[in-house]
Amino acid sequence: MDRQTEARCEETLDPEDWESMRALGHRILDDTMDYLETLRDRPVWQHAPEHVRVHFEGPPPLDPEPADDVYREYVRYILPHQVGNSHPRFWGWVAGSGTVMGMFGEMLAASTDAVSGAFSYVSNNYVEMQVIDWCKTLLGYPPAASGLITSGCSASNLIGLAVARNAMAGFDVRSRGMTDAPQQMTIYCSDETHSSVQKAVELLGFGNDALRRIPANEFMQIDVAALKVAIKTDRANGLLPMCIVGAAGTTNTAAIDDLNALADISAEERCWFHVDGASGAWTAIAPGYKHLVAGMERADSLAFDLHKWMYLQYPIGCILVRNAEEHRRAFSLTPTYLAHGEGERGLTGVDVPWLADYGFELSRGFHALKAWMTFKEHGTARYGRLIEQNIDQAHYLARLVKDAPELELALPVSLNIVNFRYTRPDLDDARLDDLNKQIEVELQERGIAVPSIVSIRGRKYLHIAVTNHRSRQDDFDLLVREVIRMGDELA
Ligand SMILES: Cc1ncc(COP(=O)(O)O)c(C=O)c1O
Repeated sequence: MDRQTEARCEETLDPEDWESMRALGHRILDDTMDYLETLRDRPVWQHAPEHVRVHFEGPPPLDPEPADDVYREYVRYILPHQVGNSHPRFWGWVAGSGTVMGMFGEMLAASTDAVSGAFSYVSNNYVEMQVIDWCKTLLGYPPAASGLITSGCSASNLIGLAVARNAMAGFDVRSRGMTDAPQQMTIYCSDETHSSVQKAVELLGFGNDALRRIPANEFMQIDVAALKVAIKTDRANGLLPMCIVGAAGTTNTAAIDDLNALADISAEERCWFHVDGASGAWTAIAPGYKHLVAGMERADSLAFDLHKWMYLQYPIGCILVRNAEEHRRAFSLTPTYLAHGEGERGLTGVDVPWLADYGFELSRGFHALKAWMTFKEHGTARYGRLIEQNIDQAHYLARLVKDAPELELALPVSLNIVNFRYTRPDLDDARLDDLNKQIEVELQERGIAVPSIVSIRGRKYLHIAVTNHRSRQDDFDLLVREVIRMGDELA
């Protein structure tokens, strides 16, 4: 084959016909805007039926298919069977709801196939660092702290606890490994703490047994007196109490630990103070409620999400670490092919720190862009008002529940989560558990609303986490009406 023919045979993944691909792009954007504008008119959630599951079996597609057909398949088999968390009546677990500009941000980041973390003289890294700086300012965290945008709070907890481990171990964990630890290190949290903390503890080699789950008090906060006793007992037994994990908003009830008390105990006991503020950290920007997270700013590391209460598209979380040098020391590792030195400018030079030195990933998506664009589009004061609105909505729903004789609140609402159940005097707890589970399933299957179910003190409750910027008071009125109607029907 001569060179010219050979060159003609070379392939690329760019469109052969840019015009028709452009037309498809316009159609996708139009359809997407229609979808978002009319969310409220559709069922919240629709189960993917058996034929849809079967559709996704089969071998890799060896030969090309027209791009329009691929999109048509998405519209037919994927789009209708979403979890539904962008819908105004999605309140299950603790989820985000996304924004239009957030979608544009992800699309723009994808359009340049942007990488964030290395090659630090590119704008992407300045954007990420600005978003981190904005988070520090908004959450009242010290400006000298370091930070990293992550894929979510699980990753943020892992990073925070890794820094804590290396800083507190008293030996070089990175060189010598955990098997060389002279003392077993112990970590303290309430028994309401999220499972991602346990995963982090296991991954970091402490072992689950090292995680001391201190019982929660009547408000579902860590029992501070019991915590003090546990630390003293462990120390007396020759163990090394290493870290206290405080919750700024638990998953089940949005309980916020007494963060000032935990900061004091951490200081007295020379423990690292980590706060898991997955969604609750953002209470700090709600003018009427920010006092609830007082003390959070004293954390040595603060983990939180922006894909829950800051309403951004998944994935985006963040970790902040008070001592930037400890943070860098836990992760910085520079192979020769990525060598970079302060002040150099060139393809691999730096004029700002490489973000890859602050986490376990090298290649990372440019998720900071959607945060930067939406924060600017709406202004952060509006986010504060929206978070306040969600908390007010949770209190509104709690009032509706209290006013309905058929309904029962699990406990007073502390923030943005309402747990309640349908109840009848002639039914015992086991029957009520089944009934409320059935109500949850029916609400979801009929596309009316998506709550989830939690167990609190051995009883099952419908769980409504209000982290949705599209919810209106009417949506909560409808929820209460439907739960009562369905309970009466099913009981
Ligand atoms: C309190 C808490 N911490 C951590 C996480 C984990 O966050 P992510 O799902 O973003 O990894 C969650 C998730 O719901 C949570 O509620």
